[in-house]
Amino acid sequence: MSSQADDMQLQAAAIARMGEDAGLNDLSRRWFRHSAEHKYSYNFSWMGRPIIQYPQDIVAMQELVWQVQPDLIVETGIAHGGSLVLYASFLKLMGEGRVLGIDIDIRAHNRAAIEAHPMADRIDMIEGSSIDEAVVARVFEAARGKRVLLVLDSNHTHEHVLRELALYTPLVKAGSYAVVFDTVVEWMPAEAFPDRPWGPGNNPMTAVEAFLKTTDRFEVDTQMDAKLQISVAPKGFLRCIAD
Ligand SMILES: C[S@@+](CC[C@H](N)C(=O)[O-])C[C@H]1O[C@@H](n2cnc3c(N)ncnc32)[C@H](O)[C@@H]1O
Repeated sequence: MSSQADDMQLQAAAIARMGEDAGLNDLSRRWFRHSAEHKYSYNFSWMGRPIIQYPQDIVAMQELVWQVQPDLIVETGIAHGGSLVLYASFLKLMGEGRVLGIDIDIRAHNRAAIEAHPMADRIDMIEGSSIDEAVVARVFEAARGKRVLLVLDSNHTHEHVLRELALYTPLVKAGSYAVVFDTVVEWMPAEAFPDRPWGPGNNPMTAVEAFLKTTDRFEVDTQMDAKLQISVAPKGFLRCIAD
């Protein structure tokens, strides 16, 4: 009978092999592109609130929240609040921790539904641009002394995400993560974003690549990419390896 450590080593080796399977990687990317044509990320909800995510990423976030045991999850980009409710529900089950969401435009009906939700007592929201100085100051105030897990899911242009990374990653300490969603835009056809300022060459993945050239504190969690295969955040799960 093998020990748990042996099992984990075997599992890690199997995942690494999967990550190197060019056929599977190609199929996964093709499947992703095809599913995005159907706006697949809009198909789901969490405890009644629409969540703009792929189910694989929802499972990935559950693993990270359990692993990191954050006191505070900071997420830029609220939309309908599904992801705030998701993280709040994990934290509620775990017993500790709060979620702080930031959005430039919190629609009245979304705010009302989030505030009336059974998870509302774990959720705080700030309306304003995530790169606005006053907003950043409020987030730092809320995060003082807390173990922070950071999630970036707002404006997906290179410039905006790079600025968010510069502003907010000081909150993230060794063992925690900065998760950058929608890096997958880099692998999508340009015509997939006719009405958006982002696209291939200008998106969260190009921002992550530029950010990683400026710091030794973060590295891409390649095992996460290898095991998910289907994700909006390839190379976007950034593990903090030094304070
Ligand atoms: C992709 S949605 C967020 C989805 C949400 N995290 C979820 O998983 O359901 C992006 C959100 O970012 C917001 N946003 C756009 N620009 C922003 C900015 N400069 N600062 C903060 N939020 C912004 C939009 O209003 C929109 O609600």
